[in-house]
Amino acid sequence: MEFTWPISPSGSAYRPLVQATDLTRRWGKGTASHLGVDNVELSIGQGELAAIVGPSGSGKSTLGSLIAGLDQPTAGSLVVAGTRIDQLSNDRLARWRGSNVGIVLQNFHLLPTLTAAENIELALKLSESRVSRRERRNRSGEALASVGLSDKAKRLPTQLSGGEQQRVAVARAMVTMPRLIVADEPTGSLDQESGHIVFDLLAGAVANGTTVLLITHDHELAGQADRVIRMLDGRIGDPSAGDIPGQQSSDVLGHRDEPNQSADELVSPGRHR
Ligand SMILES: Nc1ncnc2c1ncn2[C@@H]1O[C@H](COP(=O)(O)OP(=O)(O)OP(=O)(O)O)[C@@H](O)[C@H]1O
Ligand SMILES: [Mg+2]
Repeated sequence: MEFTWPISPSGSAYRPLVQATDLTRRWGKGTASHLGVDNVELSIGQGELAAIVGPSGSGKSTLGSLIAGLDQPTAGSLVVAGTRIDQLSNDRLARWRGSNVGIVLQNFHLLPTLTAAENIELALKLSESRVSRRERRNRSGEALASVGLSDKAKRLPTQLSGGEQQRVAVARAMVTMPRLIVADEPTGSLDQESGHIVFDLLAGAVANGTTVLLITHDHELAGQADRVIRMLDGRIGDPSAGDIPGQQSSDVLGHRDEPNQSADELVSPGRHR
C-alpha cells in the first residue's frame, strides 16, 4: 500500500520537517537535576511559520536550541530535515547545522571585526557545500540586497543600527538556503518598525519554502504565524486545545483582537503541573 502523509486541517498535504518524540533536556543529576524541556512531542511542517510563546523560563530557548542543533537532548529523538540529529557527534552536528539551519538571535551575534558582507560570506564558508570565493561574494551581495542593505556591505557591525545588524543576521541565516530558520526573540532588541521588517523578512523566507521557528514574547507577531505553540514548564500545549499542524494561530490563541494582551498570558493554565 502506498504511504501517504497525514492531511492538515487546511487540506494540503502535511510533511514534517521537525519531528520531536519524548524530547527531554535535563541538567544535573538526581534530586539536584532540573528539566528545561520535558517529554515534548512536536511536529512542525515543511514551509510552516511556527511561533513559540510562553513565560520566561518555560523552555522556549532550550527547545529552539535543540531543534537548531546547538544543544543535544538528554532523552528522546529528534528528526530535523530527514536527519536524526540527537544521534550525531558534536562535529557532525556542527556540520549538519551549517548546511541546514539558519539561526537568528536577539543580540545579532555578528562578528565585530568582519563587515556586513564578510559576516554573510562566513556562513557560506562554514556550510558543507563547497562554494567558491567569487560565488560567496555574489551570494552575500544578493542576500544583502534582499534585506535592503546593499549600500552598507562594507560597514562593520558597530557602524550599523540595531535593526540593520539584525537584517544582516537574517541575510546570514538565509544565504545558505537552509531548510529551517530558528529565530530566538529576533525582534526583542528592536523598535516596533525594525521588528516588523525583520518579521516580514522571515515570513518571506517561509514564502520561499523555508520552515521558520520563531520564539517570541510579541503577541502581535506570534498572531501572524501559521501556528502558535505554547510552552509552560518545559512542556508544550495540548494538541486537543488546537496546537496542531495547519491550525490558524487565531484559533489557538483565540485573542487576535486584543493587541494589548501579552502572548505569555495566553498560555493554557491546564498544562501547569
Ligand atoms: N545551560 C543551562 N544550564 C542549566 N539550566 C538551564 C540552562 N539553560 C536553561 N536552563 C534552565 O532551563 C529553563 C528554561 O530556560 P529557557 O532559557 O529555555 O527559557 P525561555 O523560555 O527561553 O525563557 P526567556 O523567555 O526568559 O528567554 C530555565 O529554568 C533555565 O534556568
Ligand atoms: Mg529564551
